[in-house]
Amino acid sequence: MQWWDIYLQVPESVSDAASASLQELGSTAVVFYEQTRLDPQRDPCLVTDPSAAIWTVVHGALPCDALLPQHLTALQDWLTGLGEDGVGAQLHTRPVPNDDYLTRWQQFFQPLCLGERLLIRPPWETAPVPAHLTCLTLNPGPAFGTGTHPSTHLCLLLLIAYAAAYQGSTVLDVGCGSGILSLAALQLGWSQAVGVDMDSQALPVALENAALNGLQERVRFLQGSWPQVTGQFPCIVANIYLGPLVEMLPSLAPMLTPGGLLLLSGIITAQEPTMLLAVEQAGFAVQHRVEEDGWVALALRRAGDGVPPTPLT
Ligand SMILES: C[S@@+](CC[C@H](N)C(=O)[O-])C[C@H]1O[C@@H](n2cnc3c(N)ncnc32)[C@H](O)[C@@H]1O
Repeated sequence: MQWWDIYLQVPESVSDAASASLQELGSTAVVFYEQTRLDPQRDPCLVTDPSAAIWTVVHGALPCDALLPQHLTALQDWLTGLGEDGVGAQLHTRPVPNDDYLTRWQQFFQPLCLGERLLIRPPWETAPVPAHLTCLTLNPGPAFGTGTHPSTHLCLLLLIAYAAAYQGSTVLDVGCGSGILSLAALQLGWSQAVGVDMDSQALPVALENAALNGLQERVRFLQGSWPQVTGQFPCIVANIYLGPLVEMLPSLAPMLTPGGLLLLSGIITAQEPTMLLAVEQAGFAVQHRVEEDGWVALALRRAGDGVPPTPLT
């Protein structure tokens, strides 16, 4: 599929909201360029001279399909809606040159070590893995999920914290993207994983990543969302964004086995009160909260489920 590069030049204070808007419209990866402005006449269009100091450029990509014009209008309306806060904000788009994704990820995707426990790295990094680390090899392709985005990073830290309590059990990963969370869970001791994603491009990437790590027999990836999945799970993880998370919470409650763990991520701190209200209304209680760079992730259990497993801190 052809993709379009989307650049939003916004004040730093609304850059997370810009990123959330891009992701809501289907951008599977978002990169922030701080103290940078746009000059659409130039190629590359990113400028870092002194006049750029107040701006952040949020860069994503959207599929070039029938919805693209509508999505661009929505982004333009969002910029206009910033009012005085957004004077000078602008949108720039262009078709993504072929193979740009690969070069971009190769440039941005560096090995990542989490909690002195998990090493996530691209296939082109082949140095020996230190004995104390579990390694996950990941080729994100056009799917979201390298572990560098705070929402993924926070989820991975929660998976590490709860791994001991859920050894040998099955995890459901809603919005699996590159498969990073399903596959990390398997490397950390979960025995089986099921991943679902609405984006048809994510699934071949996730499958390729499973094969890269020899995990293909222990994971099933499906296109769709939670309605496509049957059964109950001791652990469900969903790193998406506020809207779908709020919508799916009531349906996820009966999909958790008693005492089960629900990890939610993709929540901007300003959206946390809305999320917490939905959490309470769906009968969940917050067991653990982690925050990074304006993003929050929550570990939940159903209220009344008894004493929950304790995470390692
Ligand atoms: C922020 S990415 C997370 C990817 C990966 N799990 C990670 O943690 O890095 C969100 C993913 O959810 C998918 N998605 C968005 N809405 C969804 C929904 N309602 N049901 C299932 N997947 C959804 C997107 O296609 C995208 O791949």
